[in-house]
Amino acid sequence: MDRVRIDFTNALAAAVGTEHGIEEEELARLAAPGAAALASVLARRGKDLRWLDLPWQEKVHEAILDYAASVQGRFRNVVVLGIGGSALGNTALHTALNSPYHNLRPPAGLPRLFVLDNIDPDLVGEFLDAFDPAETLFNVVSKSGGTAETMAQFLVFRARLVAALGEEAHRDHVVVTTDERAGALREIVEREGYASFVVPDGVGGRFSVLSPVGLLSSALVGIDVKGLVAGAAAMAEVCETPELGENPALTYAALQRLMQARKAKPIAVTFAYSHRLAGLADWYAQLLAESLGKRLSREGRVVHAGPTPVRAVGVTDQHSQVQLYVEGPFDKWFTFLAVERPDHSVAIPAAYEDREGVAYLGGRTLDELFEAEREGTRIALTEARRPNVSIVFPAVTPHTVGQYLYLMELAVAVMGEHYGVDAFDQPGVEAGKIAAHALMGRRGYEKRRAEIEASRPKQPRIV
Ligand code: PA5
Repeated sequence: MDRVRIDFTNALAAAVGTEHGIEEEELARLAAPGAAALASVLARRGKDLRWLDLPWQEKVHEAILDYAASVQGRFRNVVVLGIGGSALGNTALHTALNSPYHNLRPPAGLPRLFVLDNIDPDLVGEFLDAFDPAETLFNVVSKSGGTAETMAQFLVFRARLVAALGEEAHRDHVVVTTDERAGALREIVEREGYASFVVPDGVGGRFSVLSPVGLLSSALVGIDVKGLVAGAAAMAEVCETPELGENPALTYAALQRLMQARKAKPIAVTFAYSHRLAGLADWYAQLLAESLGKRLSREGRVVHAGPTPVRAVGVTDQHSQVQLYVEGPFDKWFTFLAVERPDHSVAIPAAYEDREGVAYLGGRTLDELFEAEREGTRIALTEARRPNVSIVFPAVTPHTVGQYLYLMELAVAVMGEHYGVDAFDQPGVEAGKIAAHALMGRRGYEKRRAEIEASRPKQPRIV
């Protein structure tokens, strides 16, 4: 069985005590609200929450695979231009499912992948200096089709493509993923005749990884997108049940709610014991933060709700964060991402057998050591009364990654109901976008610019 499972033994009072752990009755009290939350989320399938339907969009999956096949072997580089939900899933899938050294040595016929999710002029400027337009395909990804960062990047790289290849030929080096009708990017697609894919209505950025937003770049770099969506579909089926004890999404959502509301743990640490899964932890951080971090409840009350996601990587962060986690404030709960069967086994050769400090390692494997360190950290946290759960991947495959993505999306949607906030809007992000437009002198934003100028401190305190 390759099902992703959640072991929540160490989140319970029986393991870490009643002050920090969840009691069975507390969990049971969330069973009925959880079932109601699930029903209300699932009732929106095929309506305004179309991300729930993404695993079954076979025609879209075929179109993605056809496009990937049609360009295979033509480009040495694929570059995703996007940000937030239009980039994090791409990176997460690539880092989970391709070699960490893919770009050094891409498999035959496959391109390297770069996700430029920042407009830092040093990042973009270095890339401008380094890339060869003739061998590069740009996937411009923006649901709204108007995000300043992505549009600016597009203008920069488009100009470079046109200068190098000419107006006509540059068009084969751009493929766009955006809304079907709205936004400047869709208008540009129509004008230029770029190849394009659609971010369907009802699929917000952070819930879009299983749409062409995440699947197109995956297909281009050889990831099995059908395996991914099959995994997501399998998890959707598991999570149909309203029984909290049988539904991992309901259980995880309840734990998150109780940890913050009853156990005073506003910080949710995802501790990925796998470099391959670190990108998933980044992806989840956005999903959790943007979905639950809200000023207003759904009824319009000021609540300033939301957990703070933190991401750590094992074993690296054992030597950076774990001191704080084991002995610092009791304001965190932990989710380990664990892999039962890594792809590689690396033997540790025996040597210096007269030195016990290294001799005990000889003849063992790095995988045994890795596992022992994860287990050691889990034990240390539990003994220090720090609640923790483990999300266990039997192996890191398209199927298990697809399961994880759907599991966490559904769990966060249910959390939105528990927290009483709209998990699908992002007014705080929009506020920042509007301010940036105003500061860049965009027409129509003059009033906002004047407000910003008027509110600048008269006497800044700078040291
Ligand atoms: O999750 C979200 O909605 C955001 O992070 C967006 O993905 C991000 O702001 C980019 O927006 P867009 O895809 O419209 O360019």
